[in-house]
Amino acid sequence: MRALIALALSLSLVLMSAAPVLAQKASPGTLTPPVTALLTAIRSADKGQLAISEEDGRFLRMLVATRGAKTILEIGGASGYSGIWLGLGARETGGKVVSIEYDPQRAKEAAANIRKAGLEDVVRVVHGDAFAEIPKLAGTFDFVFLDAWKPDYQKFFDMVFPRLTPGGVFTAHNVINKKSDMTPFLKTIETHPGLFTTIVSPGLEGISVSYKTR
Ligand SMILES: C[S@@+](CC[C@H](N)C(=O)[O-])C[C@H]1O[C@@H](n2cnc3c(N)ncnc32)[C@H](O)[C@@H]1O
Repeated sequence: MRALIALALSLSLVLMSAAPVLAQKASPGTLTPPVTALLTAIRSADKGQLAISEEDGRFLRMLVATRGAKTILEIGGASGYSGIWLGLGARETGGKVVSIEYDPQRAKEAAANIRKAGLEDVVRVVHGDAFAEIPKLAGTFDFVFLDAWKPDYQKFFDMVFPRLTPGGVFTAHNVINKKSDMTPFLKTIETHPGLFTTIVSPGLEGISVSYKTR
């Protein structure tokens, strides 16, 4: 009997000490303090101000997760800032991100930053020209984030749209502050019969969100 009571006591002690740990366990894709610090450091080091804003990053992370996107393509990854936000969303959906960047130094920094964020199993940084690298990727995309040079947007859309899954989402950055550099692209996404498009502005630069309806 004594042995039984002792066993029950030690079992309840084990359960009690495990409970707070389980309750505190972060869900996948949570923004932890070290990742927040890393994101701040990337933006501080971003002298060319290439990275998207934090508000835009949060919005992308939210879109990836709520859409349940599994295959995510980023065109123009720079040093990995937006790639981390996309990766946090993909961590939650069990998806994967391919982020393409043709500047060798930035691609190296992106890979290092993705590693520091603990997202190397989710985000793959590809160094190369996206016009050459996209055809080498297999399969279709549930979610695309386009943030390369703005006059190339129409060409990238033409290349990627046939590979966007029905119900997939095509997003593009700077559609407000660099609107005049991408007139043909904006006309396409606003009039395309197979897309429903809205333009939002979580930060100041603008993101187009186009949903493939068929
Ligand atoms: C505005 S920055 C991207 C910022 C990044 N999305 C972020 O928020 O951290 C644009 C990047 O696209 C890259 N880029 C432009 N054209 C490209 C292409 N054809 N293939 C791959 N990368 C390209 C540039 O080298 C640059 O680093």
